[in-house]
Amino acid sequence: MPAFEHSYPETPRHVALIMDGNGRWAHQRSLPRSAGHKQGVEAVRRAVRAGLDLGIEYLTIFSFSAENWSRPPSEVNYLLGLLRRFVRQDVAELHQAGVRVRIIGEREGLQRDIVRMLEECEQLTLHNTAMTLVVAFNYGGRDEIAAAARAIARKAVSGDLAVADIDAAIIGAHLYAPDIPAPDLLIRTSGEQRISNFLLWQLAYTEFVFVPEHWPDFNREILERAIQEYSGRDRRFGGLTAQAL
Ligand code: IPE
Ligand code: IPE
Ligand code: MG
Repeated sequence: MPAFEHSYPETPRHVALIMDGNGRWAHQRSLPRSAGHKQGVEAVRRAVRAGLDLGIEYLTIFSFSAENWSRPPSEVNYLLGLLRRFVRQDVAELHQAGVRVRIIGEREGLQRDIVRMLEECEQLTLHNTAMTLVVAFNYGGRDEIAAAARAIARKAVSGDLAVADIDAAIIGAHLYAPDIPAPDLLIRTSGEQRISNFLLWQLAYTEFVFVPEHWPDFNREILERAIQEYSGRDRRFGGLTAQAL
């Protein structure tokens, strides 16, 4: 077996997507921003199908950030409506395809019907194993770390945890979905090269690929190109590569 076997094209186990550019996609077509969001849902469907075909184990999508509440109420309401419709129309199909759905993000303060809907979706698909679709909704990386800090502080105050034992593993164990491995590959569409408060903790050693296409145009080919680029990267995790050993 060649020593550099690891650098052959390989499928990342976990791909995270920052779905950006819906508004710009619509603007380029003289359409309202809502039209971009609507087409964005089609792109989510394509991404899930491609993820299943390619054997990706975890696909995480950034659907609504903790900061997105600062958009005009009409846009926020439209996005919430799309989420409701997506759950109503797509979850049965996802379930049939063997997709497990998990939601990460702050549930505190969300409308009760939305929380119930998200919980039902997780319950229904709980035992599916073909792929896990992680939907980041009302998600902020700093909020996630702050929530973990609160939970850890409570345990320290009650005496269940010694302060000296708080390390990276303990913090990781208190995040929204502690059992899910960190993303191998993060793709952000629309050319913006920033994290926008997504998965701050988990992205420590993730490979980033930024693509110029707007999210509503996302498809299998774009995903495959990003995976191709990923497979040529030399992941080191602070150590040395196999070739250098
Ligand atoms: C991504 O597209 C969707 C969400 C953030 C909910 P945008 O709405 O951010 O589109 P741009 O960035 O304004 O083009
Ligand atoms: C990140 O996109 C959030 C989602 C994709 C849901 P934004 O469009 O909100 O990010 P910024 O504001 O350009 O950094
Ligand atoms: Mg944007």
